[in-house]
Amino acid sequence: MKFKQIMSSDFEDILGQEDTKKHLKSALLSERNVIVVGAPGIGKTTLAKNVAKVMPKQNGKKAPFIRVQGSPDLTAEDLIGDIDPIKALKFGPTSKEAFTPGKIFQANKGVLFFDEINRCSEKLQNSLLQALEEKKVTIGSYKVDFEADFVFIGTMNPEDTSTEPLSDVFLDRFDFIYMHYPETLDIEKKIVFKSGKKVIDFPEKLLEGCLKFIRNLREDENIEKKPSVRASIGLYERAQTHALLSGKKTVSIHDVQAVLISVLSHRIRLKPSLKYLKKPENYVKEEFEKFCDKGGYL
Ligand SMILES: Nc1ncnc2c1ncn2[C@@H]1O[C@H](COP(=O)(O)OP(=O)(O)O)[C@@H](O)[C@H]1O
Ligand SMILES: [Mg+2]
Repeated sequence: MKFKQIMSSDFEDILGQEDTKKHLKSALLSERNVIVVGAPGIGKTTLAKNVAKVMPKQNGKKAPFIRVQGSPDLTAEDLIGDIDPIKALKFGPTSKEAFTPGKIFQANKGVLFFDEINRCSEKLQNSLLQALEEKKVTIGSYKVDFEADFVFIGTMNPEDTSTEPLSDVFLDRFDFIYMHYPETLDIEKKIVFKSGKKVIDFPEKLLEGCLKFIRNLREDENIEKKPSVRASIGLYERAQTHALLSGKKTVSIHDVQAVLISVLSHRIRLKPSLKYLKKPENYVKEEFEKFCDKGGYL
């Protein structure tokens, strides 16, 4: 990416997160590979797409944004490519024509977005390294080096415990960029307006109350998995459609209450000390009642 383009980009699809943007910018300027670290639903994908958006066009077309979903089943063939046996017979087994390029070649001159990179095997991590170091890949007996020049953006959820840790050799190739929940209620409200669908009137004070409630849950020390920005967007949309189905023109607290469990209860996890005593559904319901009693949404 050109120096000027990076300097002038604001990554405007992401609201707030000025520190994150600055770190990302400086990492891009020094051509580093980055891993964006943060909980689900806080804008990691949106940020990476924004990088692709500011990259120079290729032959009049948008720079590619290639997404790879990290999983233990992901193979080196998915990433690098494969030999097509029929074409190999036709053109010869080491011909360039017989090779079907994998994701990393499709990302050439664009962004390779590797979501949840900590979910893939160590073998796969190793197969990525040459591409990242040399910006090209030599494939088996192929004489041709394929060009794989892309901006690499991986993501990782630090609270994901179902994964193997990334190897030190691998980690040594990356800089980490940290992303956080929206800094203020005002920013979160803007995100909700920007990303959520508007169907009917949602009184602003009521919406602010909903967001305040969700933001309180993030601070709640009984909760270990916190509700994301998707929860806020979900509550905004579902309360509206619930009101609409009830023949109303404006959302009320009753609509919020009616969809609360459907939107929120699976998005939180209570700490072990509470988990066996209380279901998340009941916890959300009771906390919301307490919040309303205190006049939190007024
Ligand atoms: N800071 C932010 N600025 C703008 N939109 C955001 C922000 N945080 C979250 N969102 C919105 O929340 C939703 C989820 O974001 P996404 O990028 O898919 O998250 P992640 O990849 O981290 O799971 C999207 O609709 C996105 O636009
Ligand atoms: Mg994502």
